[in-house]
Amino acid sequence: MDIAVIGSNMVDLISYINRMPRDGETVEAPDFALGCGGKGANQAVAAARLGSAVRMVTRVGNDLFADNTVANFERNGIDTTYVLRTAATSGVAPIFVNPDSQNSIIIVQGANSLLTPADIDAAATEISKCKLIVLQLEIPLETVYYAIDFGVKHGIDVLLNPAPAQPDLLLSRVRACTYFTPNESELSLLTGMPVETIPDVRNAAHTLLEAGMRNVIVTLGGRGVLWVAEGVDMLLPATPVEAVDTTGAGDAFIGCFSHYVVATGDIEYSLRMANRYAADSVTKRGTQTSYASKEEFALLHS
Ligand code: RIB
Repeated sequence: MDIAVIGSNMVDLISYINRMPRDGETVEAPDFALGCGGKGANQAVAAARLGSAVRMVTRVGNDLFADNTVANFERNGIDTTYVLRTAATSGVAPIFVNPDSQNSIIIVQGANSLLTPADIDAAATEISKCKLIVLQLEIPLETVYYAIDFGVKHGIDVLLNPAPAQPDLLLSRVRACTYFTPNESELSLLTGMPVETIPDVRNAAHTLLEAGMRNVIVTLGGRGVLWVAEGVDMLLPATPVEAVDTTGAGDAFIGCFSHYVVATGDIEYSLRMANRYAADSVTKRGTQTSYASKEEFALLHS
């Protein structure tokens, strides 16, 4: 296996709205879509569609959503040995996409909140054969910390996408990861620093390097991506596109970056590919439904 994603899965309930209702108000929305989502699952699917061998370690509920989630992993060629059934509801994410293509998301973690360090131990033999562990913050923080320690102990690179923003995240417990990939608001929350301008973002990212991180990769939406590491400070521009729905674009970026960095070991090249892949995803509706296959992506950048 190339990649172990230890993280979340959700059922995305996506409403395309004209505006959010006020307290006590009912408004009609023009469209709705049901999809497979969750930051962990999205990143796993993007990497798998590009050709990585991916193992998913996650918990689904014992409801009607669970079978569909497992079947979706299987359709995408993802190993589901450690997709664990749990006496809980599946994670769900009501999502609201406004006419400007921007999204607001509520997550209910459900079974994801029950993914424990013991689940990592149960999958230890298989995870230890992977080249990269990919993590996000829709599972308990203790499990995230344990997975990072596991990666360090076994000499496996670890990517932590600190999303959604978690004020309780202890930088001292995550600084050993190989790649740390906040967006600008997560960076601001974690550092307590402003991120309005690119120099602001640079300053904030450099404080994470000073705190012991190796590669800080800040995703900046339309402003591109900033990579800082020892001796590296590189701003890569975004690929300009007409956005239709930005939901899951960050996950498309992480999944694609994970695929290419495992395949090539070339961080700059992987960031450039991830920029293009994420940009393509915002031109289509939905989360995983907007992720290109390897063949589709090859056509885009050939
Ligand atoms: O990043 C987008 C994802 O966030 C959605 O798929 C939703 O499930 C939430 O986890």
